[in-house]
Amino acid sequence: MTAEKIKDFRAALGTFATGVTIITTLAEDGEPIGVTASSFNSVSLDPPLVLWSLAKSSLSKDAFCSSDHFAIHVLSASQQDMSNNFAKSGADKFQDVRWQKGETGSPVIDQYAALFECKTMHQYEGGDHIILVGEVVHFDRRDEEPLVFHGGRYAEARLKTSDEVEQGIDLDQGKFTDDFLLYLIARAYFQSSQPTRTALEQLSLSQSQYMVLSVLSMNAPATAADITDRLAHTGFEADQAALEQMATRDLLVQTNGEFDLSDKGRSHLIETLSVAKAFEDDLTDHFTATEIADTKRVLKKLIDLTGQDVPDLFAANQPE
Ligand SMILES: Cc1cc2nc3c(=O)[nH]c(=O)nc-3n(C[C@H](O)[C@H](O)[C@H](O)COP(=O)(O)O)c2cc1C
Repeated sequence: MTAEKIKDFRAALGTFATGVTIITTLAEDGEPIGVTASSFNSVSLDPPLVLWSLAKSSLSKDAFCSSDHFAIHVLSASQQDMSNNFAKSGADKFQDVRWQKGETGSPVIDQYAALFECKTMHQYEGGDHIILVGEVVHFDRRDEEPLVFHGGRYAEARLKTSDEVEQGIDLDQGKFTDDFLLYLIARAYFQSSQPTRTALEQLSLSQSQYMVLSVLSMNAPATAADITDRLAHTGFEADQAALEQMATRDLLVQTNGEFDLSDKGRSHLIETLSVAKAFEDDLTDHFTATEIADTKRVLKKLIDLTGQDVPDLFAANQPE
């Protein structure tokens, strides 16, 4: 095949999404050996057999071909760095990796979504690769999202939901379940804004006052009518009297009938926002970057769909 044809062939093969594994064995001198491989597949349930293929050009070929065991680690979504590490030919791949010898003697790395420890059963010629078939003597599985490889890039698996979206609400019975989307949105809001509410209490600020500080931080100065208008969709009220009372508390400054943040108001806002940000940072540690991007996209769409009459609070901050 020409180089061009090989490139096309590789691209066509890449349409087949796979998981990613690290496969390990011990060299004859007892050194741990490992490579990243996406060619892993199941072969037989009884006896339990699996296979994978190793490039003949791999520096690890002799170690795998002369060993009678290997261990396959199916990687979780968080192990992309480890996958890259074991794909570096000839590198000292185990340097920062915690591992111990498993049942067959192959190195077992601490982290994985699934583990298959195998005895090497067969080795077959496969063009520029060797096909290794192993009998699984021990396996383990953890509740981890898998790392996916597709089209030459890493990806994350997302389970398809059924086309029928659960309504989560039974109007006849006057009941709803935790599949009711608006319940989930409201509950997520109440729970995730709890630290902010506590911070506000400590600063003796009401929710309405916090909303006033927030809208002014985005666009100021503003008249009372403008602020009232911008808060209308939140259900919080801030009329002229309420704003003047905030000015008396030094939270706002009033000039020519318009309001702006005072230094104290801005510092209270920053203090509250830093509590919210710290809470968000802790929360986002539990999500993948894709989940966060998806959540933001869905929330922005919901905001667009439900907010035709809501003024764009960021309008003045956006570039033309
Ligand atoms: C996602 C991914 C999948 C891979 N799958 C395989 C594979 O199935 N077989 C293989 O021989 N190499 C595969 N490789 C390439 C090897 O990991 C790479 O050549 C490695 O450097 C070999 O190491 P060595 O030369 O130190 O033995 C893959 C690499 C990546 C990033």
